[in-house]
Amino acid sequence: MNDEIKIPTHIAIVMDGNGRWAKARQRPRFMGHKKGVETVREIVKACSSLKVECLSLFAFSSENWKRPEEEVKNIMGLFMMALDREAKALARNNVRLEIIGDISQFSEKLQKKIKKVENYTAKSTGLRLIIAANYGGRWDITESAKKLARKIQSKQLDTDSITEESISNHLATRGIPDPDLFIRTGGEKRISNFLIWQMAYTELYFTDVLWPDFNPEELNKAIADYSSRQRRFGKTGEQVIAEKSSKGD
Ligand code: IPE
Ligand code: IPE
Ligand code: MG
Repeated sequence: MNDEIKIPTHIAIVMDGNGRWAKARQRPRFMGHKKGVETVREIVKACSSLKVECLSLFAFSSENWKRPEEEVKNIMGLFMMALDREAKALARNNVRLEIIGDISQFSEKLQKKIKKVENYTAKSTGLRLIIAANYGGRWDITESAKKLARKIQSKQLDTDSITEESISNHLATRGIPDPDLFIRTGGEKRISNFLIWQMAYTELYFTDVLWPDFNPEELNKAIADYSSRQRRFGKTGEQVIAEKSSKGD
């Protein structure tokens, strides 16, 4: 038995359950989102101290526009406020913030704020915090296809030289390693159009804990579970063990 804890290089989280958390307390859904922002702060801190390299958080999906206008407005407001309040602390803690998603659909003011905080933290060398906002995995793949098609049109690229790597390199996550561990809180067992291309070989972990109740202890449980798994990437278990012992670990 190997009981050593392996820290994932990249953790991707679908932060779900804010609405139900609020409902259980007879509070408006907005209060769940507000409490959810506090959880984000705690989990970012925990990942920083565990030396996780990348943390991707699904904050707003391309499908979330279908929610009542009032809720969308509230979420945007919270996003804006969190960027304002947290920029300094992120930089101080050496965290680099990056937003992935179609931000052109956001207000001018929010787009400017996003760019400002990204620039403000660009020199950080610690945790890369990737916030997916108006993000959808299918959108991401479609955009990658468009970029490649344009390169073919302008004769910079040949159709037959398209590889899995070139598709990856034109996604919003270009330069970011694929997630090792995916966590979804809130009890649902689905990906909901998050990093669908990037998670081809990611270990999946689902918990009933609602996002506002998620905490570093729950994160440690997910990491411990991840550590106990054998990642085979198509090989046999015996091959993986043999490779590990030849590497001396
Ligand atoms: C996740 O919580 C946050 C967003 C999708 C913005 P939900 O708002 O989906 O919470 P539930 O699923 O209704 O409990
Ligand atoms: C996924 O949660 C998106 C985010 C956490 C931002 P949803 O609550 O929107 O997912 P579905 O609709 O239940 O699949
Ligand atoms: Mg939900």
